[in-house]
Amino acid sequence: MFNFDYSIPTQVFFGKDQISVLGKQIKRYGSKVLIVYGGGSIKKNGIYDKAVKILKENKIRFWELSGVDPNPRISSVRCGIHICRENRLDFILAIGGGSVIDCSKAIAAGFYYGGDPWDIVVDSSKIKKALPIASILTLAATGSEMDKFAVITNEETKEKLGTGSKCLIPVFSILDPSYTFTVPKGQTAAGTADIMSHILENYFNNTKGAFIQNRMAEALLKTCIKYGPIAIGEPDNYDARANLMWTSSLAINGLIEYGKKKGWSVHGMEHELSAFYDITHGVGLAILTPNWMEYVLDENTVNNFAEYGVNVWDIDKGKDKFHIAHEAIDKTKEFFKLLGLPSKLSELNIGDENFEKMAEGATRHGKLGEFKPLSKEDVVNIYKASL
Ligand code: NZQ
Ligand code: ZN
Repeated sequence: MFNFDYSIPTQVFFGKDQISVLGKQIKRYGSKVLIVYGGGSIKKNGIYDKAVKILKENKIRFWELSGVDPNPRISSVRCGIHICRENRLDFILAIGGGSVIDCSKAIAAGFYYGGDPWDIVVDSSKIKKALPIASILTLAATGSEMDKFAVITNEETKEKLGTGSKCLIPVFSILDPSYTFTVPKGQTAAGTADIMSHILENYFNNTKGAFIQNRMAEALLKTCIKYGPIAIGEPDNYDARANLMWTSSLAINGLIEYGKKKGWSVHGMEHELSAFYDITHGVGLAILTPNWMEYVLDENTVNNFAEYGVNVWDIDKGKDKFHIAHEAIDKTKEFFKLLGLPSKLSELNIGDENFEKMAEGATRHGKLGEFKPLSKEDVVNIYKASL
């Protein structure tokens, strides 16, 4: 296990009606607020009305940026920065899923940056300061409610890139599981696949001696496997939604990554897919993950997969380790199918026309991933296996 500095500063208000803290919490940081939200789900399910009522009761002035798309665009970020500067706003409240929170983070950092905000997406070292942001989470998936990352799409160049800085970590997040009751089945499934992918990206890693991190990761994976199907079958099952929501935060807030060498694999490949085809992030991950697993399985990695099979999928540990590994990969694939997710790119009408360009993008900083570093050619092969 490597040295690390533990710091997860987001204050989390978890549970029913925790929105009641909103006014008091915002007043700790600012008084003129930009509310950022997506295509209108928060107006349909009443979360918008609840938040606005509290802001008005607390005499907190607010402006709005609506219509943030899934796979949020840099054009929305520019728009948000303009509103903040013009009105000298001092706080950003994101109400939504990862796209809304990520867009808010980029606005928060872009506010203090002199040039075009795309620069700070391309090069995170340019982020020096940010407005404080908070989130009211409405979809369990990305973990953006508690992490430092923002993933933004440049619609003109077809690039989707992640940036990150400690100053982008939300100062507080309100996690009311009942706010996710209205998330459609397909989005619940994609969110579950995204959470699992975050855990797997940390789990399949070469760091020795990270026993505690791996056992925590297994518990989080088992939680997704238990509660993903329940949340899809019973959208208003509070415990299912609560377990998924808390797992989404714990999967990527650093807890299971501290002490391990960093370097993810599947996300880099998926971000290219959603940049080129604007697909749902979790759907892309569900298709790529089992194929990536099969591709990297070999004599050096088989023990990791056998451990995964025994501890996560309860496969008999007396079996041959390659047998366990293949069975675990099959179970992963079957689970995503059970959630109703596609398992082939062709189901999304994606062919091989952009594989070379996408693989080039995925490996723009060199080989991809730490577990088994992937060359451009490897990435093309994994895309092909996913067709
Ligand atoms: O736009 P609205 O109308 O709000 O509808 C949204 C959107 O259409 C809907 N939705 C959200 N909450 C709902 C709801 N519908 C009904 N009831 C609710 N309570 O869900 C749709 C998808 O929302 P989105 O925010 O795009 O989903 P998600 O949270 O999965 O975010 C995906 C984005 O986050 C990035 C992804 O790449 C993608 O761009 N990621 C961010 C990460 C991070 N910041 O750490 C890490 C991830 O790996 C990921 O890359
Ligand atoms: Zn993800």
